Amino acid sequence: MEKIKEHTEPQKHQPKVKEEVVIAIKGLKKSFGNKHVLKDINLELKRGENLVILGRSGTGKSVTIECIVGLLKPDKGSLKVFGNEVVDMNDKELKELRMKIGFLFQSGALYDSMTIRENLEFPLTRILKLKDQKQIDKKVKEALDNVGLLEAIDKMPSDLSGGMRKRAGLARTLVVNPEIMLYDEPTTGLDPITSREISELILTIQKKNKTSSIIITHDMECARIAADRVLVMENGEYIAEGTFDELHQSKNKTVSAYFNDIL
Ligand SMILES: Nc1ncnc2c1ncn2[C@@H]1O[C@H](COP(=O)(O)OP(=O)(O)OP(=O)(O)O)[C@@H](O)[C@H]1O
Ligand SMILES: [Mg+2]
Repeated sequence: MEKIKEHTEPQKHQPKVKEEVVIAIKGLKKSFGNKHVLKDINLELKRGENLVILGRSGTGKSVTIECIVGLLKPDKGSLKVFGNEVVDMNDKELKELRMKIGFLFQSGALYDSMTIRENLEFPLTRILKLKDQKQIDKKVKEALDNVGLLEAIDKMPSDLSGGMRKRAGLARTLVVNPEIMLYDEPTTGLDPITSREISELILTIQKKNKTSSIIITHDMECARIAADRVLVMENGEYIAEGTFDELHQSKNKTVSAYFNDIL
């Protein structure tokens, strides 16, 4: 893998917290039949860090995060979250793990038959098992306020625009205050201004909650805004790692292709 040397100048969003590793992946492999999707994935996510993964469609980005939350079982390799091997976890342990990980799916689906308020109450009552309605109200309003959607609290998802639905999905994921956030294409399908808002929101959330995040995106503006570090994935492996600015200057043709339109 092309590892771009650290510059001496400070990084833009350098985390100031202790460098504790929250996700450690070593030699991860995953195939579907004879299709070898993940060939050799090695990754470390540090506490408080925003890690962006770039890569062409179909390279296995979503498969990687589905392995992290135990939705898919890797064929080989080690995948530790908070020091515990995910492959060895039983159902109860997986459930506990998923309580600490917020997963914003590529589709970002909300429950269409529930209001935005009910959508946010759902993880609080079902996952955190909260019963105190006052406390639930407070958390729901705080989460909606964080994404600028407080006024939409009693609306149905169908009453909202695509960008608002995306923000509501983000609020629902964040309402349980996860330690790790996995974002699968958080800005896809949004206009450039809303995309920028979502990307800035991801950065604000990371700073405010000290969340560690993996952000999969094709949106270079999102990568520029949110990333402490960037990995480029190609054919089931990572081929380059560095800060956004470092990779921007890469001489590697595959890597620089991502930055073609960036000034
Ligand atoms: N459950 C599954 N069963 C069989 N094949 C799968 C499964 N999940 C993913 N794949 C295959 O694995 C490959 C990688 O898929 P993945 O969804 O990880 O791509 P991606 O990098 O996230 O792409 P995109 O940028 O389009 O979202 C694809 O060829 C896909 O068809
Ligand atoms: Mg995907």
